[in-house]
Amino acid sequence: MLDLGYLRKTEHNIIMIGLHPQILQSMLDFDFLSGKTAPQTKAIIGSGRKWEKFFWGKKECLIPVYAKVDLMPAKIKEKIDLFINVSSGRRALASTPETIAALPNLRGGVIFAENLPEKHAIEIWKTLQQVQGKEKNLFIIGPASVGILIPGKLKLGAIGGIEHNQLTAARLFTPGNTAVLCSSGGMTNELINQLANQNIGLSFALAFGGDRFPILTPESAFLTAEQDAETKQIVYFGELGGTDEYRLAELIKEKKITKPIIAYIAGSVASVFAEPPQFGHAKALAQKGEETAAAKKIALRDAGALVGESYEEFINLIKNNIMNDNNQTRKHEDLSNRKHTLFTCAISGEKNGAPTILNEELTKLAEQMSYPEMIISILLGHKPKSKELVDFTELVLKLLTDHGPCVSGAVNTMIAARAGKDLVSSLCSGLLTIGDRFGGAINEAANNWLRGAGEQTDPAVFVENRASAQKHIAGIGHKKYSSHQPDPRVKMILNFSQSLGQKTFTGFALKIEKITLAKKANLILNVDGAVAAVMLDLLKEKEGYDNSALSELVASEFFNALFVLSRSVGFVGHYLDQRRLDEGLFRLPEEEVASV
Ligand code: ACO
Ligand code: LMR
Repeated sequence: MLDLGYLRKTEHNIIMIGLHPQILQSMLDFDFLSGKTAPQTKAIIGSGRKWEKFFWGKKECLIPVYAKVDLMPAKIKEKIDLFINVSSGRRALASTPETIAALPNLRGGVIFAENLPEKHAIEIWKTLQQVQGKEKNLFIIGPASVGILIPGKLKLGAIGGIEHNQLTAARLFTPGNTAVLCSSGGMTNELINQLANQNIGLSFALAFGGDRFPILTPESAFLTAEQDAETKQIVYFGELGGTDEYRLAELIKEKKITKPIIAYIAGSVASVFAEPPQFGHAKALAQKGEETAAAKKIALRDAGALVGESYEEFINLIKNNIMNDNNQTRKHEDLSNRKHTLFTCAISGEKNGAPTILNEELTKLAEQMSYPEMIISILLGHKPKSKELVDFTELVLKLLTDHGPCVSGAVNTMIAARAGKDLVSSLCSGLLTIGDRFGGAINEAANNWLRGAGEQTDPAVFVENRASAQKHIAGIGHKKYSSHQPDPRVKMILNFSQSLGQKTFTGFALKIEKITLAKKANLILNVDGAVAAVMLDLLKEKEGYDNSALSELVASEFFNALFVLSRSVGFVGHYLDQRRLDEGLFRLPEEEVASV
């Protein structure tokens, strides 16, 4: 059910299904010009980039993009109460029901797409009926609708205009008491502007769409207006085709609609055609006499509505019968000449010439934060919530700093240094050695533990699957350490996890190790695997990361960043050490190379 009281009361959390940048920007501009402190649109459901950049006033904002509604973080998903579906007519049938099913606090939405097959609209209507009153109390406006608009509160769709100057010209920020109901999107916006030109305030505007079977029917829209305390009269623009107006006439006669109606029915030109013409909207075809514009005007007029014979007369009826009540004089920030930036940076910047980290002056943070805290803040893009995360970050950075001159990355750094290469080149030589086998397995190990534990895979099956695929398990195995000679760093990392609760991921990793150790003594949970497991558990238990957010970290290689950051210190150390020792160019003795 369309509950205008609810829609007027709350700050909404909206998702856009599909992407129509102009409509979304118009909704953000409406929110900004209405004085809201943040966009009501919280996410886009669609493919492509992870964020889309829009304007928030003259500044910019990022709207996150998720491939599916279900992939939104739980804390966003549970707040979403409205949707605007701008996906194609073909996609609307699939995307709408899955949205209804996935959002526990959904209250309704708009389907923008035209050319939705009628059977698809009926399918969506059936889905709505299945949940109506039981799990949810929903409204769906459309298909083929520009949406609903409540001045200063909600713009859900293209309704009211797309450009910010259209929104300010239509004076959409001061509520009034005239409702605009219409089948046509274009005419809805035209009537909104007609009212604005007459200083008539809008209580709400709703376009039910030009399909023959709109999911929210004209009857339902009129009854909503009748029950709406803010609405004193209704301006209605209908068109030939269908028989909705006869039902409206009945409701007026039955006094179920008592508020004054000023109406016009478009399509009288159809009478000059030999055969009934099909106009743009699917419903706009008068197959029978009663569906003609003329017949419907008579029905409404007989019931007591003021009906313009012509469009001009319709506008004059509005002018002469509705009081001017919209003296909106609010000055709005001019949003013209906006230009998107070429880069976006969410972790640092400058304020009055002073460097900032996460919008706080670096010099202040240098006094307030430990270095590990600053590092993890920059890596994650937000300050840590827990002391445990800062402490663990410090431990990992220390333990991974260096592991002597024999490990592959150190050797490459040293060779480059002895070849006379400069600091950066020698450092890069070491860094370029980091990969799946050496130092760069933390990320893939995190992916293993996250997927394995997340999908509750039997550890034995997990190991067997990797073996069948002839793939090493990242986080398992070491060239030097084994069950006979444990890695002291791993021991220290696992000891840290004692402070955690469930330890889902660490538990899974240790179960994997138990199986691999049965095969070979060196197939231990190595330092990469241990860091990955404990970090996953920490982020989940102490920082509130759900599996979707942890997957994002894996995808961005956050876990490998820990090794790269830490071991860069070791590599630089080796470079400087070799510069001090200056043993000259290194050449591998032939006897150390087998000729096969
Ligand atoms: N998962 C499953 N089986 C493994 C693994 C593994 N991670 N590592 C080795 N094995 C098996 C091999 O399949 C092979 O089996 P087989 O004898 O039946 O053929 C046997 O163990 C020996 O394989 P090698 O590659 O010779 O073992 P090695 O000791 O040289 O490998 C290494 C060490 C490279 C670390 C390996 O264990 C590995 O690739 N691990 C995964 C990557 C990883 O975690 N690296 C991080 C190491 S710690 C760090 O870099 C800071
Ligand atoms: C390291 O931390 O670099 C080592 O554990 C890796 C290795 O090959 O010994």
